[in-house]
Amino acid sequence: MDDDAIRVRPAVAADLPDIARIYNQGIEDREATLESAPKDEAEVRQALERREPRYEFVVAERGARILGWASLNPYSHRCAYDGVADLSVYVERTARGTGVGSMLLEKLEGRARAHGFHKIVLFTFPFNAAGQALYHKRGFREVGIFREQGRLDGRFIDVMAMEKILD
Ligand SMILES: CC(C)(COP(=O)(O)OP(=O)(O)OC[C@H]1O[C@@H](n2cnc3c(N)ncnc32)[C@H](O)[C@@H]1OP(=O)(O)O)[C@@H](O)C(=O)NCCC(=O)NCCS
Repeated sequence: MDDDAIRVRPAVAADLPDIARIYNQGIEDREATLESAPKDEAEVRQALERREPRYEFVVAERGARILGWASLNPYSHRCAYDGVADLSVYVERTARGTGVGSMLLEKLEGRARAHGFHKIVLFTFPFNAAGQALYHKRGFREVGIFREQGRLDGRFIDVMAMEKILD
C-alpha cells in the first residue's frame, strides 16, 4: 500500500491514545468545543465502546500515523429523531488544512447513509474559521445561532447549529 495515502477506517481500541491526544488539542485550542478539561483515555474508551454500531467512529491515518477522527453521535433519545445523527470531527494540529477533515466527513456521511440516517446536525462556533469552511464545503446549511448558549472559561459563547440532509 502507498504509505503517503490517507486512509479512513473504523477506529479500534489501539487508536485510543491518538484519539484522546487529538481531542485534547481541540479542547486546548478553545475553538472547537465547550469542553475545557482534557479527556483521559478511559473517558475516550467509554465513548468508543459504549456506542451502538450505527454511531460510527472513524480515524484517518497515513502509514501508522493517526491524523484525525470523526464520529456520529446520538442526537436525541426520542424515537422521532432516530434518523438524526450529531457529528464530531477533530484533526491533529499539524495536519489541519491538508484535506483530512474533508476525507473524514465524506467517509462518515457515506456510513451515515448506509445506516439509514436521514440527516446530520452539528453545533459549532461561528468563529471557528476552519470548521465553517469545512462544513460549508461539505454542503452543511446554517440553521441559526444560539446567542450566549454555552460558557467557556467564564464567558458566554455563541453556538451555531448546522445541518445536512442525506439524500
Ligand atoms: C475544523 C477541522 C476539523 C477542519 O479539518 P481540516 O482537515 O483542517 O479541513 P480541510 O483541510 O479538509 O479543509 C476543508 C476546507 O476548509 C478550508 N480551510 C481549512 N482550514 C481553514 C482555515 N483555518 N481558515 C479558512 N479555511 C480553512 C480548506 O481550504 C478547505 O477548503 P477547500 O478544499 O475549498 O480549499 C480541523 O481544522 C480541526 O480539527 N480543528 C480543530 C478541532 C475543531 O475545530 N473541530 C470542529 C469542531 S465543531
